[in-house]
Amino acid sequence: MLLHSLSVFREIFEIVFTHRQIATVAEIGVESGQVSGIYVELGASAVYCVDPEPSDRLRSTLAGNDALHLVEQPSPEVLPDLPPAQLYVLDGDHNYAVVERELRWIVANAPDAVVVMHDVLWPWSRRDLYYEPSLLSLADRHPASEDGPTVWHDGLTPAGFVGLGAFTVAQQAGGERNGVATAVEDVLSAARDDWHFVVVPAVFGLGVLMRRGSAADEQLLAALRPYTESVLLEKLENNRIGLYTRVLQMQYDAAAEATYRDQLAEKVAAQRHEIDRLTTELDMARAALRPQ
Ligand SMILES: C[S@@+](CC[C@H](N)C(=O)[O-])C[C@H]1O[C@@H](n2cnc3c(N)ncnc32)[C@H](O)[C@@H]1O
Repeated sequence: MLLHSLSVFREIFEIVFTHRQIATVAEIGVESGQVSGIYVELGASAVYCVDPEPSDRLRSTLAGNDALHLVEQPSPEVLPDLPPAQLYVLDGDHNYAVVERELRWIVANAPDAVVVMHDVLWPWSRRDLYYEPSLLSLADRHPASEDGPTVWHDGLTPAGFVGLGAFTVAQQAGGERNGVATAVEDVLSAARDDWHFVVVPAVFGLGVLMRRGSAADEQLLAALRPYTESVLLEKLENNRIGLYTRVLQMQYDAAAEATYRDQLAEKVAAQRHEIDRLTTELDMARAALRPQ
């Protein structure tokens, strides 16, 4: 039920490919590989699919297409080792430290590329998510929790967006060096050049980043505008998140209720067993007292 893959943004990628010459794509954070082939369909001749923990499903998906190259290393460390790309898609570890370094590297080394990045809106805009905290120094991590955020309050809850073992999240939202959007703001405010940053306000927010200055950029921005300035999309996204977090809460309550009912059933069964035992004992005692 949860829309979360970048594959839903195919029409946005179509617009990017229409307005830019893109031969090589660096795809950071691949998961199932359902997006990788889209870049080839749209005209890329090579896609470097960076994921430090590829599943068997991902391996077999990528193995079926010669243009897709699996890179089993973490970003941002891997970025200098990849061939230069005209499109960087950032959807790996969604925390400030990783995203800030990824963007800082791209701004310095590939300033003519387009950068498309996921999760620039709630819940990871102002709160770190950690897939692989062990790769980060202690100073780069906020105290984290297995619980997840929900729209009903700022705190975390086991009934929120939880990682179920795949990721943890910063206990506190907001403040310095926390979240994907904060990383974008800090990198762009420190950059020498001016950059455009626009957001498609759907499915957790898709950011599109490009250096200011070329006619192609203005045309690309104009083509994206029906999406990036859509109040309708923004309202639908807020509504989707409101309803989805309600579903999470109901799932959590239903699971807790089922556990409670199981425990109750076990208690009743144990009590029945005890009653049967006592009844047998009573019957035996009565039989012993009965005159022969
Ligand atoms: C949200 S999923 C990606 C979803 C995929 N882009 C899609 O739209 O279908 C995040 C992926 O990033 C990977 N990942 C985590 N840390 C990473 C890192 N430092 N560099 C690259 N990938 C990372 C995870 O293994 C996971 O498969």
